[in-house]
Amino acid sequence: MIKIAVMGYGVVGSGVVEVFYKNHESIQKKAGKQMEIAHILDLREFPGDPHEALFTKDFNDILNDDEVKIVVETMGGVNPAYDFVKKCLLSGKSVATSNKELVATHGDELLEIAKEKNVNFLFEASVGGGIPILRPITQCLAANEIEEIYGILNGTTNYILTQMINSSVSFEDALKTAQKLGYAEKDPTADIEGADACRKICILSALAFGKHVYPEQVYTEGITKITLADVAYCESAGMVIKLIGKTAKLSDNKVFATVYPAALSSHSQLATVDDVYNAVMVRGDAIGDVVFYGRGAGKLPTASAVVADVIDCAKHLASRKYVSWSKGEKDYVEDYKQDTVAMYVRMKTTQEEVEKAFGKVKFLSYEKAENGEVAFITDAMKEKAFDSILSLVNGEVLSKIRVLDI
Ligand code: HSE
Repeated sequence: MIKIAVMGYGVVGSGVVEVFYKNHESIQKKAGKQMEIAHILDLREFPGDPHEALFTKDFNDILNDDEVKIVVETMGGVNPAYDFVKKCLLSGKSVATSNKELVATHGDELLEIAKEKNVNFLFEASVGGGIPILRPITQCLAANEIEEIYGILNGTTNYILTQMINSSVSFEDALKTAQKLGYAEKDPTADIEGADACRKICILSALAFGKHVYPEQVYTEGITKITLADVAYCESAGMVIKLIGKTAKLSDNKVFATVYPAALSSHSQLATVDDVYNAVMVRGDAIGDVVFYGRGAGKLPTASAVVADVIDCAKHLASRKYVSWSKGEKDYVEDYKQDTVAMYVRMKTTQEEVEKAFGKVKFLSYEKAENGEVAFITDAMKEKAFDSILSLVNGEVLSKIRVLDI
């Protein structure tokens, strides 16, 4: 009998316990082992919970229980999750986590400890919620050199943008519903300002290119400045706005890693990914483009990925699985201003002013456009060059959104 402990009984942790017991028989069959949850760590009280007898507030009850071989970490945040996970790995327990902040910040170190101790540190749920992506990248696509990854990696912001685009719902109302549905982080700033997607692109980049990318190395811009006017102008040009995480391998052993709202053609495979759904497009040299799609947030979809990791840990108690990457480096992530993009710009100026600086651009219009406002799309160029040209245009910039041809 393998004992399992769950640290954190919030949305995801309680989902893990629910899925584990809902499909207990088949889960044990797939793991080839008998398994029970022995402890649930949470500082809160859960009176009347069917698993009340398992609750503890003391982490040492888990750490000192030698029969606990697998620990689920669904607490979120770096502290105290980092300390607890490190101690579990050092004491020879495998860990399955949904905590992208933890993996994006300390994944390199925790994977190294797992390797030394011959245990598993798995985190399928940390990117794309229930979407299988960790194993596809590291196993199924292993024959490829991965070139680029583009992803809609945050369910909350995708839900908000979809509501703004399809139903003209205000940003604030859409955010409130996303919180009610359990999609948003405890502090939704991490969703709307892009930090959550940033953590996920760090993990994807490390998985694809073998070196850790730290969140502070990623240029990150959220969706709070997107207006219904931007949505309408983009729609007039056959485009939709999505929050896109991107990582790309460069020829000099560097990578681009960015998160920002981007205007995509409505024909893009990512353009129709709506609501809480996430999608990850991986471009490999042999396979071309492959897209992974599914529910990127929410209780049971995320729990589904965590429990799959638990099964994998149980199957591989005596041997480590495949995942590892090396520590990051200071100059590994290239300045995003060196990337080549077209730009959508909305500003208070005249078309003549714009053309004087940029030459020929594509001007946009829509029914309710404000007087004295001009919206246009430039040709693709290095962002650094775009900035220099834009600074020559007399007028006030209201919005700038990168246009991605994916
Ligand atoms: N807040 C996250 C999201 C949860 O909205 O995608 C899943 O990581």
